[in-house]
Amino acid sequence: MISIALFASGAGSNAARIIQHFAGSSTVSVALVVCNKPGAGVVKIADNAGIPVLMIEKEAFFRGDAYIPALRERGIDFIVLAGFLWKVPSALVAAYRGHIINIHPALLPKYGGKGMYGAHVHEAVIAAKEKESGITIHYVDELYDHGHIIFQAHCDITEHDTPQTLARKIHELEHTYFPLIIEKTLQTVKS
Ligand code: GAR
Repeated sequence: MISIALFASGAGSNAARIIQHFAGSSTVSVALVVCNKPGAGVVKIADNAGIPVLMIEKEAFFRGDAYIPALRERGIDFIVLAGFLWKVPSALVAAYRGHIINIHPALLPKYGGKGMYGAHVHEAVIAAKEKESGITIHYVDELYDHGHIIFQAHCDITEHDTPQTLARKIHELEHTYFPLIIEKTLQTVKS
């Protein structure tokens, strides 16, 4: 059994799809949700699914032990960032190298990096009058939105699209592909 931790800070719609996808799986268990925002939607989603939540604090994450012992204690083999907005500290990247993936709501390397998250990404894409956007699922390394790309999916942008309508299209792509790509990626990982 491979135990995964979902790191999420927001509404948690991706986390919900992932939890649903692996419910009842005999090979993959969503064992933990890690969150830095008390009251975030994802906390309720985890509670409803009976998945423990680890609330993390900035100081301990960036200048402490990056919660590596807490993750090890819980037997976490693999980390999935599903709307997690903090940069992953190098110590945690090193401890889980090749075992952390992220989803980004644009076609990296465009529209990535510091400050490029959630609605900010869609606002920038619309402002630049791009004709398409999409999602990128990639391994996490020490740099923001930089690691090896595993998968991308595209969507068209029309002249009628706004950041809000684009966000909906992107979420649809994420919900369709992220659980499947996680499953596929985990087939190459040893627990
Ligand atoms: C998702 O669109 C995800 O790609 C994005 O946050 C959203 C979370 O939505 N992640 C980033 O911007 C990371 N840089 P959700 O909470 O409904 O899953």
